[in-house]
Amino acid sequence: MKTKDKIKHLQELNAQAESGGGEKRIAVQHEKGRLTARERIEYLLDKGTFRETDKFVTHRCTDFNMGETKIPGDGVVAGYGRINGRSVCIFAEDFTVFGGSLSKAYAEKICKIQDMAVKMGCPIIGLKDSGGARIQEGVDSLAGYTDVFLRNVLTAGVVPQISAIMGPCAGGAVYSPAMTDFVIMVHGSFMFLTGPDVVKAATHEDVTFDELGGAMVHNEKSGVAHFAVNNELECLDLIKDLLSYMPQNNMEDPPHRACSDDVNRMDDPLDAIIPDSPNKPYDMHEVIKRVVDNSTFLEVHRYYAMNLIAGFARLDGRPVGIVANQPAVLAGVLDINSSMKGARFVRFCDCFNIPIVTFVDVPGFLPGTAQEWGGVIKNGAKLLYAFCEATVPRITVITRKAYGGAYCVMSSKHTRADINYAWPSAEIAVMGPDGAVKILYRKQIKEAADPKQIEKQLINEYTDKFANPFVTASKGYIDAVIMPSATRPRIIEALAMIENKRDSNLPRKHGNIPL
Ligand code: HXC
Repeated sequence: MKTKDKIKHLQELNAQAESGGGEKRIAVQHEKGRLTARERIEYLLDKGTFRETDKFVTHRCTDFNMGETKIPGDGVVAGYGRINGRSVCIFAEDFTVFGGSLSKAYAEKICKIQDMAVKMGCPIIGLKDSGGARIQEGVDSLAGYTDVFLRNVLTAGVVPQISAIMGPCAGGAVYSPAMTDFVIMVHGSFMFLTGPDVVKAATHEDVTFDELGGAMVHNEKSGVAHFAVNNELECLDLIKDLLSYMPQNNMEDPPHRACSDDVNRMDDPLDAIIPDSPNKPYDMHEVIKRVVDNSTFLEVHRYYAMNLIAGFARLDGRPVGIVANQPAVLAGVLDINSSMKGARFVRFCDCFNIPIVTFVDVPGFLPGTAQEWGGVIKNGAKLLYAFCEATVPRITVITRKAYGGAYCVMSSKHTRADINYAWPSAEIAVMGPDGAVKILYRKQIKEAADPKQIEKQLINEYTDKFANPFVTASKGYIDAVIMPSATRPRIIEALAMIENKRDSNLPRKHGNIPL
């Protein structure tokens, strides 16, 4: 072949790869309100920075007359580029080619870019839009999926992994995102292992794609997804925002930003935010927003286990992970789902050197057979384990209740938190006054001439003794009782002091978190 013919061939190959499954299928994709794989990458990456890899790779299947159907690129667009000037590796599944289904060659393209992300120490992003294993390829497709899964696991905690579900994500396609750090779902996308037809045959349940595995199902019920967004552009913008809180890899610190909010800003309304009645709720979001830079808080798992809040913010421009009980939902109690949610978030922050600020207002663990039979012991232990294991800088603020096991769990001093503050409104004890008095003085109350009156008196005595931060402060389990209005400057000052913290756990193959 002459050079000019080679150039012509190159142009043809490029054109074929860039037109994916062809104009008709691209039109159908657009009719569904969806972008193509290339359009998504184009929007997400800094202009002109995308460099595609394996653009001419084709599948190798010859069964089912597949030999005639080779499209350069084969259903996935892979490569690297930049987001806000920082390197990323990326792959985007192309639904217009065999419904985005995964062949062995397609898997190899993903694996190559996963390996590159680890070697170069940059995040990897997967934009998902796939019907799952390419049925025509049989076990080759399953092998390809497993090669990707293996890399998801070996990559975890080395570089951040983000998945966006932008169309179908069926069968084998679900396990790779499930093992990444964050899953974003666009409304109208869905994730399921077995589709509605199979569900109907097996269980006689008649469900739509959305009812089975739509964005809100996985955001509210299963917890598989961390974010739900209205459209694709919102999804891609969210990826950019999310990355801005993360380092490139586990050897770096997260990027600092210039801070336009006063680091010494006092916030007087915080002094009055705790209601007089201990059973009255308030919104912990309000506390978080009043403390962090410019009230900017990127909430993770916002619709799941809302009795615990998790998310990213900045303090003096430094990214932090925030974990907080939410007294406005279930009184802020810890249960199975909130413990799992918190544990996963704490472990993410610890993997990637993101300091953790914890706000505590927790009456304890949720009682009942549903919780006990569902394993609240082992699931609560996940959160305890995650905090105990975390060596990143940690600051804790007890705003009100810190009762029982939940006191221990919520980044207490005893779990190696670095600076533990309490507000004057803090109540720290083995259990709340009502329960404690009933157990300690059951006999006296029963035998008293006026049981109601004596119970009230004993509750008041218990409250005076334990429902304050001063007993705990006198033992050194909290470092200082601070005014709520001073929370922002006190946390910022503490974060600066512990910025260069060095702590580590003993070498071992890996711990054994109670899964
Ligand atoms: C091969 C596939 C495919 C697949 C879709 N296509 N899924 N080809 N393997 N897994 C093809 C279709 O045949 C069709 O080709 C084109 O992609 C578009 O698909 P449509 O069905 O027309 O699109 P739509 O109506 O939008 O429906 C999308 C869909 C549906 C919901 C994803 O295609 C679907 O249910 N696919 C199968 C999903 C599934 O059950 N996957 C599990 C596979 S088993 P033509 O040429 O007709 O346009 C698996 C196990 C792996 O993944 C386990 C590993 C751990």
